[in-house]
Amino acid sequence: MPSELTDRINQLKTERKAVILAHNYTRGEVQDIADYVGDSLGLSQTAASTDAEVIVFCGVHFMAETAAILSPDKRVIMPDHHAGCPMADMVTPRELAELKKQHPEAIVVTYVNSTVEIKAMTDLCCTSANAVEVVRAIPDNQEVIFVPDRNLGSYVATQLGRKLILWNGFCPTHERIFPEHVELEKEKHPEALFVAHPECRPAVLEMADHIASTTGILRYCHENPATEFIIGTEIGLLHRLRIENPGKKFYPASPVSDCPNMKLITLEKIAWCLEDLSGEIKVPEETARAARRPIERMLEVTGA
Ligand code: 13P
Ligand code: SF4
Repeated sequence: MPSELTDRINQLKTERKAVILAHNYTRGEVQDIADYVGDSLGLSQTAASTDAEVIVFCGVHFMAETAAILSPDKRVIMPDHHAGCPMADMVTPRELAELKKQHPEAIVVTYVNSTVEIKAMTDLCCTSANAVEVVRAIPDNQEVIFVPDRNLGSYVATQLGRKLILWNGFCPTHERIFPEHVELEKEKHPEALFVAHPECRPAVLEMADHIASTTGILRYCHENPATEFIIGTEIGLLHRLRIENPGKKFYPASPVSDCPNMKLITLEKIAWCLEDLSGEIKVPEETARAARRPIERMLEVTGA
């Protein structure tokens, strides 16, 4: 429902020639006012192609950074700089340099949930939507280092029947979903299908009827004729699932699988940063250039 605040945001957006991009995990009211809501892949593609002068990025820091890398001539602003991703901080440049030294021939594939410094040391990036496709494009006899998500990495390895050198990072939000939670929900809703994000633990993924990125989960639940679904990912995704499928029922696999960082983005903070164009994300050009290469390669590999 439009309010004084959303009216103000819309007015500022026009004045600043801005576009608002939001991740599928942000608060419902933030998703409702955004021009585009999507997964990490869709957000980076939209950031790369928009002709707006200002991008208000509603998501976590690495996502806004990716937008800034892909759109160096645009001003990318973030409503709250404290919205980070703990997984992205689980590997440091020094640690990755050490691992690369141990495997000098290996190709480094980096999940987009990573810092710009790690991307700059990388051959190829991937998102949860295209990780299998990206690794499949690398010749079988080539060693592959996969950072930082051990769960996504092990999912890719299982899908391709291939050994990968995995970093031991993880998403605390998805790690909080346990097989016991899923079992409990399955008992309560025996007809429901279980759909999970590949950041979940392998034991949880083994229980899934379908595994996909956030946008992939939305697509699957919309197209599948089933009417009940247990959702194994961050609970913000239920907002869109329920709006886009009014006749279907969605149950979170775990009520505590929320990402506190995504929830830092509020309507008030969006209005404030549009007022004074504060919170700009700036990536030093040299690092941006090095980090752009693996992201662009990812977009090429997946034909985006
Ligand atoms: P998606 O790219 O699937 O939207 O996931 C991003 C993310 O941070 C998952 O935790
Ligand atoms: Fe990072 Fe997990 Fe939050 Fe995604 S849900 S932004 S991986 S902490």
